[in-house]
Amino acid sequence: ELTTAQLAPDVRIPLIGLGTWPLTGEDAAATVSQAINNGYRHIDTAENYANEAAVGEGIRRSGIDRGDLFLTTKFNTQWHSRTGVREAFRKSVHRLGTEYLDLLLVHWPNPAQGRFVEACEGLQDLVDDGSIRAWGVSNFKPAHLQAVQEACLPVPLNQVQVDPEHGQPAQLAYHREHGIVTAAYSPLGRNGSFLEQAAVRGPARELGMTPAQIVLRWHVQHGRVAVPKSANSQRQRENLDVFSFALTRQQMAAIDALETGAPPRLDSDTYFH
Ligand code: A2P
Repeated sequence: ELTTAQLAPDVRIPLIGLGTWPLTGEDAAATVSQAINNGYRHIDTAENYANEAAVGEGIRRSGIDRGDLFLTTKFNTQWHSRTGVREAFRKSVHRLGTEYLDLLLVHWPNPAQGRFVEACEGLQDLVDDGSIRAWGVSNFKPAHLQAVQEACLPVPLNQVQVDPEHGQPAQLAYHREHGIVTAAYSPLGRNGSFLEQAAVRGPARELGMTPAQIVLRWHVQHGRVAVPKSANSQRQRENLDVFSFALTRQQMAAIDALETGAPPRLDSDTYFH
């Protein structure tokens, strides 16, 4: 069974990664180190989370070989130019204490500024010179993705907020049509209400798994990457253990049906999360 998604001919991303927002300082370092020791091989951070140095410390503390880890970060809108992106890269790798990134994302399109296509061009330069293995975007709507693709830059991945109640069907359909890998942030939702729904509770009982595992399984069985955050060691292990069972078509469809049609909450947190 596939536990990774392909981003480029020689680059695969593990389907489950550790989200690190809003952890900072020692909390972030300890959580990242613990997650790697629990088997995580994909860590997701961002300039905006103000925890890159701590995440880097956690990676070193774990003792893992850098080459065995898939590391993603994202840069703020102030770097939206071809040279700015290179500067953002330099600062991130310096804070993280690494030499390269597996994946670097435009964190937010900031269409009012209107320079996100240049940012993507800058990212492609970094792939071309080997600074990063792959690039992608986050929080891009179909119109923003289209603008990038019209500049002849196929977008490998878009990280957006997806959970069973906020599936963003039109957004995900666009990703599917254009071969864009979807990565889900806040994959368990922000209030956890659907973890109580029969469509989740039923399979959890039948399969002997937790509701969170059912929801994460739903994501990966749809071929999505998911980056749940947990600072709790047992929940970290639980969230990684979603490849030993499968949901039936009916069980998948019942979770799909939890879709409310409402957009995910766009507050100042989620904007840059
Ligand atoms: P905790 O860190 O105490 O485990 P995000 O939306 O940023 O991914 O946050 C996920 C939220 O869900 C966190 O508050 C996290 O809390 C909680 N969480 C993570 N994994 C689980 C799980 N397996 N079961 C229940 N809650 C979880």
